[in-house]
Amino acid sequence: MLKRPRRMRADNIIRSMVKETYLEIDNLVYPLFVVEGENIKREISSMPGNYHFSVDMLIEEVKELISIGLNKIMIFGIPNHKDECGSEAYNKDGIVQRAVEALKKRFKNEIYIITDVCLCEYTSTGHCGLIIDKRVDNDSTLPLLSKTALSHAEAGVDMVAPSDMMDGRIKHMRLYLDDNGFSQVPIMAYSAKYASSYYGPFREAAGSTPEFGDRKSYQMNPANSREALLEVELDLEEGADIVMVKPALAYLDIISKVKEISNVPVAAYNVSGEYSMLKMAIAQGLMNEDVIMETLLSIKRAGADIIITYFAKEIALTKSSLS
Ligand code: PBG
Ligand code: ZN
Repeated sequence: MLKRPRRMRADNIIRSMVKETYLEIDNLVYPLFVVEGENIKREISSMPGNYHFSVDMLIEEVKELISIGLNKIMIFGIPNHKDECGSEAYNKDGIVQRAVEALKKRFKNEIYIITDVCLCEYTSTGHCGLIIDKRVDNDSTLPLLSKTALSHAEAGVDMVAPSDMMDGRIKHMRLYLDDNGFSQVPIMAYSAKYASSYYGPFREAAGSTPEFGDRKSYQMNPANSREALLEVELDLEEGADIVMVKPALAYLDIISKVKEISNVPVAAYNVSGEYSMLKMAIAQGLMNEDVIMETLLSIKRAGADIIITYFAKEIALTKSSLS
């Protein structure tokens, strides 16, 4: 036999020599949920191993993350008060703004903070934009998103990540940040964000289930792939520094295609449903923990430069205990 691919798999050493894809802590972003109050660290039942943190407890958590080499986080806020125009999202003293301020005061550049910019956790309707005539209105939502991003920048955030899927929001936000002295704050655009059932556990965690209807008039149809490329092209034209595909696993083909047409880093969001599905299968003994690495590798292999994942902490813990 002339060709024997198994020769390249004979033992650990040769396998490591021909390994094509690496998963580094450097490329992982860890999402965290912050709530009002004090001394709160409450496990999120739909996402075992993830918690609602009050700002004081969030500081303790981030201290631990830094100590295990995980220094990139994405913050989601859960406010006490919701209204029709999501005013807590752009309140200077809102929950995210206070969390960012406190973390930056304590850890300065030891931690890189990205904030999710959206209205759905803050609107009484649970939608990502303003409702006019029972529809999510695009253009009147843009200034509110930009104001939210600016308030995060003023609190000291390192990067903003708009997840609303309104048309034209990247350009609007870029110009607004620039005009207000924040031309150095990058925008990671949730560019190809699908209307997905995989967000189920997150919506329970964030209390952001739409009160009526669904998100199909703004998030993408899972059946479409060329449309994802249109969304990415537009976000690149509008000034996105990073483009994202979300969710990751059912959209690995989209990650590959987006990688081909992008000249900026590509992020993939390994979302709550993808996390909880594996966690619960592992807890049931259906699969062993290696499935986590296998899954994240698939996202990297598909072309993601950056992976946003609830598994980031346990991976960092494993790696730091090995070294
Ligand atoms: C807010 C937002 C969502 C997620 C990230 N930002 C929920 C949604 O669009 O319904 C999902 C994250 C996850 O499922 O882990 N727009
Ligand atoms: Zn939203």
